[in-house]
Amino acid sequence: MTSAIEQILLDLESTGFSLRPGLIPSADLAALAAFVDDHRTEFRPAKVGTGPGRKLAEGLRGDETYWLDPLAPPEPFTGVFSFLELLRTSVNERFYLGLKQYECHLACYPPGAAYGLHLDRFNSDSSRSLSFVFYLNQSWETAQGGELVLYGPGGVERARISPTPGTFVCFLSADFPHEVRPARRERRSLTGWMHTKLIN
Ligand code: OGA
Ligand code: MN
Repeated sequence: MTSAIEQILLDLESTGFSLRPGLIPSADLAALAAFVDDHRTEFRPAKVGTGPGRKLAEGLRGDETYWLDPLAPPEPFTGVFSFLELLRTSVNERFYLGLKQYECHLACYPPGAAYGLHLDRFNSDSSRSLSFVFYLNQSWETAQGGELVLYGPGGVERARISPTPGTFVCFLSADFPHEVRPARRERRSLTGWMHTKLIN
């Protein structure tokens, strides 16, 4: 995955986001999908915000999440987490962002669920700096919807990304308001954020 990292750095430098279709090979994806299947009943409705203001917001986001501990990844995710750690240190070496740690969760959007337009930053805390998503769907047709739409300055659409198998996307959290469009079938991902401070 090293050349993938180099391409991601070039993309971040020129556009502020990077899209790598099929970064996770389908053979590896099967084990990740099996983990989601095994733990699907433990997913909980996602919350928004931070600290005492953290709350359910079903109108804004309809996904269900399962948080992973980056320091103790479940076995099928060790490859993904070492990739993320390499990405973190590589981004720091190239851009001096000082990313210290990341947090991530698995997310399942039931059919029809969406996540309205938002920024991955809290008003009270600007430490989320790089957002990343891996799509864990083992198949996906464009007509099934579920796109991630990134917007730039002035609300101009910058990218419309279909959650195809093993696709990876990352973007500078402060620069891209974005939304998740509803899908016709369950949509699965691993989503997270790299922070400029230690989280726990
Ligand atoms: C998020 C988010 C994007 C996606 O969880 O904050 O924007 O494509 N997810 O799942
Ligand atoms: Mn987001």
